[in-house]
Amino acid sequence: MEKHTAIITGASQGLGKAIALELVKQGTDLILVALPQSGLLYLGNFLERNFTVKVLCIEADLTQMDAVDFIFNRVSEHDMVPNILVNNAGLGNWDWFSDKSLHFYKMQIDLNITNTVCLTRMFLENRSELQSYILNVGSLAARFIVPKKQVYGATKSFISYFTNCLRLEMAHTNISVSLLSPGGINTRPELLEQNQQLTGFARLTILDPDKVARMAVKGMFEKKRHIVPGWANILLLYLDYIIPLRFQEMIIRKRLKSFLGDKRLVP
Ligand SMILES: NC(=O)c1ccc[n+]([C@@H]2O[C@H](COP(=O)([O-])OP(=O)(O)OC[C@H]3O[C@@H](n4cnc5c(N)ncnc54)[C@H](OP(=O)(O)O)[C@@H]3O)[C@@H](O)[C@H]2O)c1
Repeated sequence: MEKHTAIITGASQGLGKAIALELVKQGTDLILVALPQSGLLYLGNFLERNFTVKVLCIEADLTQMDAVDFIFNRVSEHDMVPNILVNNAGLGNWDWFSDKSLHFYKMQIDLNITNTVCLTRMFLENRSELQSYILNVGSLAARFIVPKKQVYGATKSFISYFTNCLRLEMAHTNISVSLLSPGGINTRPELLEQNQQLTGFARLTILDPDKVARMAVKGMFEKKRHIVPGWANILLLYLDYIIPLRFQEMIIRKRLKSFLGDKRLVP
């Protein structure tokens, strides 16, 4: 069997770490990227000690222009040639547009969009000749108009468009391109706390990172175009196709008004 080598961004915690664990169980060599001081080196040591794989940890801030060159230089110094790229690192938030700084939005766009495009471009130049896979982590937020996720959702819409186009462009090559669109994931403690307050159907849309990672890796190797983890999220997507936008907006306004009581939503 061919040995896979995967680059995973944002691998120190959350979904990225769960995808790393899923791939390592299948004997994949790993190139893990996260911010400095994120516990990445500890994770890398643990994986190398417990699995027969090679793990290279690269600490880099992916919002910096030179990060992509830095990563591929380190990869080639270690004689590793990737055939899988998981563009996972992403910065989310849940705030009114005017409550976050210019600096925050620039960082969010740099990480969620610019880095994904640049890393993908460099991966295509530096990948091995083996069957290759690109897994771009989007979000269901890309499909729904969700106030307080205005820039985040838009960055994920970009990822969705980019992935779908790239998949078509790569159709006659040995590179498969997949989009992962999760609903909520219990990753960081604050999200877990927030998600635990949800009730009814909304609660069913939330999944644990290991479950999402399992479905993501399976879908990627099956060369799926769009991976949506969880039946509740698939149902939401279906409803999005059939319910007119005007009606969706009405529901969102009504729900936000009753939950948050914020006057900014009232026209
Ligand atoms: N959680 C959800 O509910 C949810 C839902 C849908 C989609 N998603 C998407 O899933 C992906 C992973 O989300 P998550 O919840 O697992 O995120 P997370 O727990 O916040 O982890 C983010 C990862 O990205 C790394 N990272 C952040 N900024 C970075 C930077 N500038 N340079 C390099 N690495 C950086 C973090 O490193 P450090 O450990 O050093 O901070 C961490 O490893 C994201 O693309 C997100 O948009 C998440």
